[in-house]
Amino acid sequence: MTEFLLKADIDEIVSRLGHEVQAFAGKTILLTGGRGFLGRYFMEVFNAINQEVLETPVTLVALDNMVTAGEHGAEIPNLKNIEFVRHDVIEPFKWERSLDYVIHAAGIASPFYYRAYPLETLDVAITGTRRMLELADAHNARMIFFSSSEIYGDPDHKHVPMAESYRGNVSCQGPRACYDESKRVGETLCYIFHQGNGTHTNIIRPFNVFGPGMQETDYRVLPNFASRIKGGKPLQVYGSGSQTRTFCYITDAIIGFILVVLRGVSGEAYNIGNPEPEISMLDLVREIMEVSSKDIKFNVIEYPDSYPADEPNRRAPDIRKARLQLDYHPQISLNEGLKRFFSWSDGIYTGNQS
Ligand SMILES: NC(=O)c1ccc[n+]([C@@H]2O[C@H](COP(=O)([O-])OP(=O)(O)OC[C@H]3O[C@@H](n4cnc5c(N)ncnc54)[C@H](O)[C@@H]3O)[C@@H](O)[C@H]2O)c1
Repeated sequence: MTEFLLKADIDEIVSRLGHEVQAFAGKTILLTGGRGFLGRYFMEVFNAINQEVLETPVTLVALDNMVTAGEHGAEIPNLKNIEFVRHDVIEPFKWERSLDYVIHAAGIASPFYYRAYPLETLDVAITGTRRMLELADAHNARMIFFSSSEIYGDPDHKHVPMAESYRGNVSCQGPRACYDESKRVGETLCYIFHQGNGTHTNIIRPFNVFGPGMQETDYRVLPNFASRIKGGKPLQVYGSGSQTRTFCYITDAIIGFILVVLRGVSGEAYNIGNPEPEISMLDLVREIMEVSSKDIKFNVIEYPDSYPADEPNRRAPDIRKARLQLDYHPQISLNEGLKRFFSWSDGIYTGNQS
């Protein structure tokens, strides 16, 4: 285990999943995006499941082309029954052995990076998803596609919190379209394979996951704030600061994702996140001040060129479907999650990021 993830969090995930993970004994999982924020957790969690729970281990094969994996993603751990293959998922991937699950988590997830790599963002969610569906179909494996809460776009207030049935309000043009629209097409591909070939597909729509392991160069809001606090710089709140999000601590998120892998009803999409609190960016700054007991300076500024404007004003999940069908119950409050994240980032981040 690298100090870049917290062993206590991995232990919490394995313990809360309990005996359910016996279903993975002897199975083979292909994971894409294995060196990203979520992918690194999957690798460590499945390693812990092998070490602590299973008599017959699960085999995990992780793919990544390293486009945004960063310096910590590039440190490939040497774990028994967990293999890493450097591979771009828009290219076909040959796999001759048996395969039980395909978890397609490769993507360009940070707004900073999808602004910089719009075509690669489209390709990984469209061509990459098709390649993984073809592979899952050929091996009769379950396919789990990481979509995004961004597919709902800027929701009509009467649809907040958003249920899976909400169709969204998304622009096909503009700085965010490469991400939102390609995730929507990825979902359509899952629908086509499920309807046409009977492929067992599930779609996960994560809502703002955070936690230790987010790289300082990730530029999503919490690593950005943490880096600036470490560097003694004022926080920069983009736009008006009234835009809202809900934040889901990594342990709750990974448990939700694994419950989808194990219990997801074929063809279904699931919101995975923590529905409360829906918090504005200005209130988030206040919450961070309380957690860190520091008087943090901040400025409300225009969107910088490096960050795609046109962001959703509100985002909050309705997770009733995941509660009912998966028995998914997030447990970590925002306050507790922020405490864990900021005490970790304080020891890791350099504060050099702008
Ligand atoms: N973390 C969140 O809160 C969140 C929210 C919504 C959706 N998601 C989705 O979940 C998935 C994982 O998110 P994350 O936070 O770990 O993102 P991340 O950016 O940290 O990791 C994604 C990984 O995918 C790899 N990748 C990108 N293109 C690839 C390609 N063509 N071939 C192989 N590998 C490629 C990158 O190098 C990176 O290591 C993504 O698809 C993302 O869009 C995440």
